[in-house]
Amino acid sequence: MTHYGKPYDPAVKYSREPLAIDVSVGKTDAIYKAHSYHTKVPHLAIVPSILHYTQPGDVVLDGFAGSGMTGVAAQWCGMAPSGYRVELEQAWKKEGRAAPKWGARRAVLNDLSPAATFIGANYNIPLDVEAFAKAGKQLLTAVEQDIGWMYETLHSDGKTKGRIEYTVWSEVFSCPECAGTVNFLDEALDDESKRVRDSFPCPHCSAELNKDRLERVLETRVDPATGQSWRRVKFQPAIVVYAIGKTRYEKAPDATDLATLAKIEALPLPTSVPTSRFPIEDMYHGSRIAPKGFTRVHHFYLPRAAQAMGLLWVKAQAYPDARTRAFLTFMVEQAIWGLSVLNRYGPTHFSQVNRMLNGVYYVASQHAECSPWYNLGGKLDRLIKAFKNYRTHAAGAVVNTGTAAYLPLPDNSIDYIFTDPPFGENIFYADLNFLVEAWHGVTTDAKPEAIIDKFKQKGLPEYQHLMRRCFAEYQRVLKPGRWMTVVFSNSKASVWNAIQVALQQAGFVVAEVSALDKVQGSYRQVTSTTAVKQDLVISAYKPNGGLEDRFVKTGATVDSAWDFVQTHLRNLPVIKLGKNGELDIVAERNPRRINDRMVAWFVRHDAPVPLSSPMPLT
Ligand SMILES: C[S@@+](CC[C@H](N)C(=O)[O-])C[C@H]1O[C@@H](n2cnc3c(N)ncnc32)[C@H](O)[C@@H]1O
Repeated sequence: MTHYGKPYDPAVKYSREPLAIDVSVGKTDAIYKAHSYHTKVPHLAIVPSILHYTQPGDVVLDGFAGSGMTGVAAQWCGMAPSGYRVELEQAWKKEGRAAPKWGARRAVLNDLSPAATFIGANYNIPLDVEAFAKAGKQLLTAVEQDIGWMYETLHSDGKTKGRIEYTVWSEVFSCPECAGTVNFLDEALDDESKRVRDSFPCPHCSAELNKDRLERVLETRVDPATGQSWRRVKFQPAIVVYAIGKTRYEKAPDATDLATLAKIEALPLPTSVPTSRFPIEDMYHGSRIAPKGFTRVHHFYLPRAAQAMGLLWVKAQAYPDARTRAFLTFMVEQAIWGLSVLNRYGPTHFSQVNRMLNGVYYVASQHAECSPWYNLGGKLDRLIKAFKNYRTHAAGAVVNTGTAAYLPLPDNSIDYIFTDPPFGENIFYADLNFLVEAWHGVTTDAKPEAIIDKFKQKGLPEYQHLMRRCFAEYQRVLKPGRWMTVVFSNSKASVWNAIQVALQQAGFVVAEVSALDKVQGSYRQVTSTTAVKQDLVISAYKPNGGLEDRFVKTGATVDSAWDFVQTHLRNLPVIKLGKNGELDIVAERNPRRINDRMVAWFVRHDAPVPLSSPMPLT
């Protein structure tokens, strides 16, 4: 900020109206898809906001930055292709708005999760794509040389070698009637339709079985990390899918396949595979994994997958150049979930890559154990292609790991905030990021995490309190008179109210809440505080110093109330045009609404409200 920030100058005129955006655009963009993250907001959805509220060189902040898409958007304002520019300028012209000033903005990105900031940094720090392409190919080839034998299989002719793409493992249960062993896939999968049948007969006693009736079988093994006995659900290999040239074949594992698997199982667990224990007792989804025997990171990998993931990690980490090393890790870490037992087998799916259930640790009864090349081969090519024409700057973004409640930034220094905080109890980021963070060797400090989670003793009041502290920090660092866009994605009225209260307590004034009407293709202003089913975009501003200074001098007088109203009105649109250019209602100009905002402002300043509304305001 010392080098690149522009100090706040009250004499510099700045005036904007709130802007509604569609947070769902850009989900097919190659850069967006380069690395997944929970509830990722596409950079192309953020770009119009940044163009609207800022100038080239301004500093944009996102304190809950996740995968850093706000930074990507800020930098992308300087690399937008001419086709995009022309289209946006034409659309803005139709709405009576002047063309934006193109050029990169700088970004300050912060997140509590090291897994998130690692992704964010890799998205935002300049990359030598050619160096990465070379290193990525080398890495996959070297892994092939070392452990290629683990993925070899014999074709039905008994001599041609095939390359295993994935092996399907099935959970083994026991029949509640005869206690006979039931291999789930063998019995439930209809070979022709490739569908898993809801019910099927027991192969031993013919009793009618279904998933609910089957009894779980836990087998005792020796934990390769602790040396102690370890009880885990039982898996058996059921199908081997392999390729010869470009042709794909499928077979049941034969004696040679089983011998190879036994040989691999006898190998020691690579030291690069983390063995740390999940904080099961504090995890919302702990009860989904612990009873099946998955309590430590290495438990999530079958022996061959552990060898593969361990080797990929070691090779990426050993690359001499720091920047290429980080990006190789950015690629390799995307196999952490996909090579684990969390990867479900979908018999009707063409690809078995990354088929885990989102937002939860769930080990299904059918697992597709993919080879590293099957999982990552396509990814490497896509990354090279996506990053080829994407050029970030050395001073384009700074990425920090920590709570948004303490940002290492000076007061009144940020030009605009775009943010997508956690919304209540939808996603448990620290828990979900634990698996990836264990590989990195650094995990989230979950204490300041702004979520609702009964397992961490965080209810709605705690969430509201945490959010208020983060918004108060936003208020401290944002320049007076500047804007913040908050994306809200939760359907619970209680969480919505908590957010509104937190915003007001922190000193922000909400100027517009909008939702995209997907059918009409236009934006709707949201005024009701009942449950909201759609993503909402909240536009709020930090009142400028003038209003605050005048209030300090005069206190809560009738004049100060009108002062607030006039200042607020200056931040609201005078007219609003609908999709077809017709005039629309500006909901925030409704007298009751303005009265609400005024009352909230005085309450937040611990001052009596100097004006009452004697008549019902309509
Ligand atoms: C909805 S996600 C953001 C996703 C982001 N928009 C993207 O495109 O990747 C919310 C983020 O807030 C982070 N978080 C939770 N509590 C936090 C806190 N107190 N300070 C900073 N970040 C926090 C979580 O780790 C998570 O990455």
